[in-house]
Amino acid sequence: MGKNVLIVSASPRKGGNSDLLCLQFMTGAKAQGHQVEKVNLRETKIGYCLACEHCRQHDGMCVQQDDMGEILKKMGAADVIVMATPVYFYNMSGQMKTFIDRVYPVYPDISDKDLYFLMTSADERKEAMDTALAGFRGFLSCLGEVAEKGVVFGTGAWKIGDIKGKTAMTQAYEMGKNV
Ligand SMILES: Cc1cc2nc3c(=O)[nH]c(=O)nc-3n(C[C@H](O)[C@H](O)[C@H](O)COP(=O)(O)O)c2cc1C
Repeated sequence: MGKNVLIVSASPRKGGNSDLLCLQFMTGAKAQGHQVEKVNLRETKIGYCLACEHCRQHDGMCVQQDDMGEILKKMGAADVIVMATPVYFYNMSGQMKTFIDRVYPVYPDISDKDLYFLMTSADERKEAMDTALAGFRGFLSCLGEVAEKGVVFGTGAWKIGDIKGKTAMTQAYEMGKNV
């Protein structure tokens, strides 16, 4: 039976470089018969975590009625979660961080999942992604039984489409194929 794959894309640019890596991953996973859904954070309404602790007193229900509730349900149902971000000021994008903070109501219950991280930067150096990757790993360390299964470093991609033809594209496809 195919796996349930959820891809969370944090680029504000449709067809942006990290978004293209998501599509590669998706194509690979679909080729193997897995079910794939991609959530584009740019198309969602997600507020900042208010740290109000409402969720702690209300069975994991957030006080905010926005798109995060649906996404959390999808995360709970996924076998594989792919998180993709552009590098902004040598960190993950604000869209991705805001999303991560809103996992707060349920984070200990996110369990039995494989995680993949896809990142793109203008900088050619892999180290340009160290801080973003550390952030993803910090998030992962707070979850239940989850495993990091792969990271794609899409370096040297500045303008939309610069990632095309780079090895990161093949890597993302192969990772998707092998979930
Ligand atoms: C606000 C902003 C900050 C950025 N900061 C960095 C950076 O610190 N280092 C870097 O290498 N590229 C930086 N970039 C370039 C992006 O990481 C690069 O264009 C990336 O491929 C964008 O991914 P996307 O097309 O998926 O949005 C920045 C771009 C923007 C818009």
